[in-house]
Amino acid sequence: MHLLVTGGCGFIGSNFIQHMLAAHDDLTIVNLDKLTYAGNRRNLAEVEERHLGRRYHFVHGDICDQELVPDLLARFPFDAVLNFAAESHVDRSISDPFPFITTNVVGTQNLLEAARRAGVPRFVHISTDEVYGTLGPTGQFTEDTPLAPNSPYSASKASSDLLARAYFHTYGMPVIVTRCSNNYGPVQFP
Ligand SMILES: NC(=O)c1ccc[n+]([C@@H]2O[C@H](COP(=O)([O-])OP(=O)(O)OC[C@H]3O[C@@H](n4cnc5c(N)ncnc54)[C@H](O)[C@@H]3O)[C@@H](O)[C@H]2O)c1
Repeated sequence: MHLLVTGGCGFIGSNFIQHMLAAHDDLTIVNLDKLTYAGNRRNLAEVEERHLGRRYHFVHGDICDQELVPDLLARFPFDAVLNFAAESHVDRSISDPFPFITTNVVGTQNLLEAARRAGVPRFVHISTDEVYGTLGPTGQFTEDTPLAPNSPYSASKASSDLLARAYFHTYGMPVIVTRCSNNYGPVQFP
């Protein structure tokens, strides 16, 4: 099985790649990452040592790139695209929302369109529970909770979720959106 993982040099993506390569012998992964302040190839040093050029390939690039992304998807027979790439820090989105709209909205759109044209059989879009807004001291969100994003970050993620939904309904693309809450762990950007 061949996977295209975007944002795999970040916190969650690098943990995912490490886990998947260790757990599945028959898997190859291409990691497309722009290496922003949040991405670091050292997060995958062990993976590079063991698998680079064989079961693991790194591409330094931007999910917004309208030549690179379709080219990549045409060259490899991917079984799935997993989109972890994002501007992900709420406070940064308050000081400057533009990179969030570019990467999270335009970048996701570029990936969805390229995956559709290439006929990729599965597209997993990693989102966040922040699209549901803010909880008080009690309560919970469910998948049916209406979207109520409260920051430029969460608004950009909610926008990308709606594009993913539109590709599912309009084109019948096999898109899955996940909305986890906060993660903590190794190589999280301080
Ligand atoms: N960290 C959490 O607690 C949390 C919670 C819920 C959802 N999420 C979501 O999970 C995903 C991964 O989060 P994270 O904490 O690992 O983020 P992160 O900020 O640690 O990593 C993001 C990665 O994406 C890369 N990237 C950024 N812009 C890019 C672009 N235009 N093209 C290619 N690569 C680009 C960065 O270089 C970095 O490697 C995000 O979509 C985020 O919204 C994270």
